[in-house]
Amino acid sequence: MSSVVIVGAQWGDEGKGKIVDIYMEFADVVVRYAGGPNAGHTLVVGDEKIVVRLLPSGILRRGTHCILGQGMVIDTEVLLGEIDELHRRGHENLEQRLTLSDRAHLILPYHVLIDTLREGSAPADKALGTTKKGIGPAYEDKVKRVGVRCGDLRDLKAMAARVAYAMQAWAPTVHALGGELPTVEAVMSKLEAHAARIVPMLGHTSELVDDAIKAGKRVLLEGAQGTLLDIDHGTYPFVTSSSAGAGGASSGAGIGPNRIGTVIGITKAYTTRVGSGPFPTELDDSDGKHLREVGAEFGSVTGRPRRTGWLDLPGLRYASRVNGIDGLAVTKLDVLTGMDRIRVCIAYDTPEGRVSSLPIDDLDPPGKVTPVYVEMPGWKERLEGVRVLDDLPANARAYVRFIEEQAGAPVYLVSVGPRRSETIMLHNPFVGRAAAP
Ligand code: GDP
Ligand code: IMO
Ligand code: MG
Repeated sequence: MSSVVIVGAQWGDEGKGKIVDIYMEFADVVVRYAGGPNAGHTLVVGDEKIVVRLLPSGILRRGTHCILGQGMVIDTEVLLGEIDELHRRGHENLEQRLTLSDRAHLILPYHVLIDTLREGSAPADKALGTTKKGIGPAYEDKVKRVGVRCGDLRDLKAMAARVAYAMQAWAPTVHALGGELPTVEAVMSKLEAHAARIVPMLGHTSELVDDAIKAGKRVLLEGAQGTLLDIDHGTYPFVTSSSAGAGGASSGAGIGPNRIGTVIGITKAYTTRVGSGPFPTELDDSDGKHLREVGAEFGSVTGRPRRTGWLDLPGLRYASRVNGIDGLAVTKLDVLTGMDRIRVCIAYDTPEGRVSSLPIDDLDPPGKVTPVYVEMPGWKERLEGVRVLDDLPANARAYVRFIEEQAGAPVYLVSVGPRRSETIMLHNPFVGRAAAP
């Protein structure tokens, strides 16, 4: 079946944007299924670098239909800003190629305010290090059943009443945090201005996606964040508020799980995390500095330095299990160039003995479990020009093969640089095994 899920196998920022953009050369439709503008997916095309936050990463492929699914939370100001920025850069026909689920929830100014106030006032050990984009409070309103959805923009009068009701429920929280809620009129006047542009883009995206799959179109379901940030599978409570994993692709796009053909997990050749929470293979030494500096590991949304560490194979095995990963894309292999030796976590020692899957519930507080490492020799050669696996330096090839054996899933793609061309394609889920170069 021609539908493929791209899911982050770590704590986000694995390079999903680049991989989606690569596969979109072969696909017709791309659907973002979860999260909101907390995502920052980087696309490098020629000399241009674009970071998309709400728009699907297929947006630069002119023939594609881009869908924002019902599992998302959408800040209309951010979305329209992204569209305008792409227009400014000369990209055309964006609105005509975009459909927003009328069931996706809206992030409203009070959600951003509450997220920001809560992060600012939480004690150090409780602050999540959120992106302060209003994600948590918007999903809270959804689950509380007082949320406001994109489709509500069709009837602004009824919407104002929903906004007033939702805001009223937040008033004591905002007051206790020393903030001040905006007025309903202020919230609505912004939304009125946006509605004229947003409403024509609304649609029943669940039907659209299902019809596309049934018609044999090639559909890519684009995940945001990563498995270890998923509300159910992640390092709770240090997670985001959505179903970032492959399970979320079904509910977030509005299709049955049996409509999904292939799940591809994206992993860096090492690990990063931005924000708080456990990270057992984290480095605080010159190796960690190498990964941050050579990998340019600074958040694409917030600019925060990302925490860096060794690859966590038990984490990948865990991600493979909870997402049903069929194949892996390993990104940023080039960043390891120049390291004398590379360590890889292969297991964890726990009070119950050695385990091969990430002991997700025993990671906090740190120290309860200990990563077990193997050491592999590094390489000195630059990798950006390599296009086939056999041309990688022997130690780099051995590293990729080791990941493949240990993670229990074949490697479909290896990325050796941020550009489209800097890619070794081993298996293309839309067209089968990649043609020999
Ligand atoms: P996403 O959120 O998963 O889409 O990832 P981000 O865009 O937040 O972060 C990944 C960063 O790595 C971006 O700056 C990409 O341009 C860059 N990148 C992706 N693949 C590679 C690669 O193979 N090598 C290098 N050096 N950079 C890469
Ligand atoms: P992409 O799609 C990395 C992290 C935040 C914080 C936690 C909760 O670019 O991979 P939130 O604002 O969602 O309530 O923050 O989740 N986080 C991400 N980290 N990449 C992302 O997205 C992230 N989206 C959220 O840093 O730790
Ligand atoms: Mg990112």
